Amino acid sequence: MSPCASPLFFVPPLLSKKLYIKTYGCQMNVYDSARMADVMAPLGYRPTETATDADLIILNTCHIREKAEEKVYSDLGRIRKAHARKEGTGERALIAVGGCVGQAEGEEILRRAPYVDMVFGPQSYHNLPDMVMRAQRDGGHVVNLDFAPQPKFDSLPDQSSPQGPSAFLSVQEGCDKFCTFCVVPYTRGAEYSRPAADIEAEARRLVERGALEITLLGQNVNAWHGAGETGDWTLGQLIRRLAEISGLERIRYMTSHPRDMDDSLIAAHGEVEKLMPFLHLPVQSGSDSVLARMNRKHKVDFYLGIIEKLSKARPDIALSSDFIVGFPGETDIEFAATMKLVETVGFAQSYSFKYSPRPGTPAAIVEEQVPEEVKTERLVQLQALITRQQVAFNRSKLGQTMPVLFDRAGKLEDQLIGKSQYMQSVHVRDASAYSGKIVDVTITGAYQNSLAGEIHQPHARRQNVG
Ligand code: 5AD
Ligand code: SF4
Repeated sequence: MSPCASPLFFVPPLLSKKLYIKTYGCQMNVYDSARMADVMAPLGYRPTETATDADLIILNTCHIREKAEEKVYSDLGRIRKAHARKEGTGERALIAVGGCVGQAEGEEILRRAPYVDMVFGPQSYHNLPDMVMRAQRDGGHVVNLDFAPQPKFDSLPDQSSPQGPSAFLSVQEGCDKFCTFCVVPYTRGAEYSRPAADIEAEARRLVERGALEITLLGQNVNAWHGAGETGDWTLGQLIRRLAEISGLERIRYMTSHPRDMDDSLIAAHGEVEKLMPFLHLPVQSGSDSVLARMNRKHKVDFYLGIIEKLSKARPDIALSSDFIVGFPGETDIEFAATMKLVETVGFAQSYSFKYSPRPGTPAAIVEEQVPEEVKTERLVQLQALITRQQVAFNRSKLGQTMPVLFDRAGKLEDQLIGKSQYMQSVHVRDASAYSGKIVDVTITGAYQNSLAGEIHQPHARRQNVG
């Protein structure tokens, strides 16, 4: 990866300018926002927490459900006022809409919100310096919806802002699965896997800058296959290689598709100690007929078979899933099958959504849409079950001592919040000395969304001291 692929990176920072980025949606967007800041840093742009004092405002958007999209337009209305105030001072703040709404809506955004200066998609943000210069120079609208991820990864600079002890690393983008409800194949494009050597180099840089945990990201992350030293590698092979990096303590990956859980990846859960015993493996529905209409390319038994293999490889593995209720045509019997699947598996946590018709996707034009009140009723039922399971899972850890990675400060003085191996938030008091470290914690309280604990040993684990 060349840090200086664009001549614009040679421009010396003139004045320090302020960059405000609001991130919507998934972890991939969190990663992309950090990379946008990296791209703009050589032009003198420094992050700011508020839109009102920014010179450049970027909304890095999500298009997955209607609510996420509408939120962008309502935020734009609010930001416009800040923009006007800034203009009142004689300064010019630029407003950009990036991410999946940018890609999907394109010029439509400029029609609905003409004060927006730039629109771009998830595969073209490496061109931000050029877009900003064009918008400043010409004063008109700039739209860049280029779609190929490879040029983006090839021309992004090395990460300049440290991500802290828990870092994201994008290894794969796009999706070829075409689930009938999903916009991702249209907004993120076809599957693209980064080469193993680029990923390893980025992982080593993250570790040098303090990362103890790396989460490999991709819309279909376990479909990753990239050129490795010994031919085409799978994600299982990549994980084994990354596990050799000294100083890297934890590896995770998300989001996975059941069809791409190959044997090498499943075996890695038993063999690679650094691979955390938690997997987000969305099933979406517990009904074979709904799965077929969703074009999920797997059945319920197949999913259960994968879970059985995973549990054999790593008996303490904890699972989470995504569910959609009220998919077009979903009957009471089909919904009951989802409830049964959840009862059977027992998830540590899960996300559930009402089906939201997305423009351009096949399911959106099916006539048998489920009434809103039925969707709501089913969501309430499913979420109650998911919550019961989550509380039971959290309670099962009471009294146990487990390693926790402290990656953020809590609201209370001297409180730290960390992550268990199973992705639970763990709150500990009198712990500030352990910020950014992995420490053994004894669990003393278990709630719906978090655990409370006490530091078990007076010193941080040997490999993290210093
Ligand atoms: N409606 C509701 N939920 C959706 N998801 C994706 N598309 C839709 C949609 N049209 C959910 C899926 C996916 C998660 C990221 O968002 O459950 O796994
Ligand atoms: Fe969307 Fe995931 Fe299906 Fe791809 S596999 S179309 S990202 S839900």
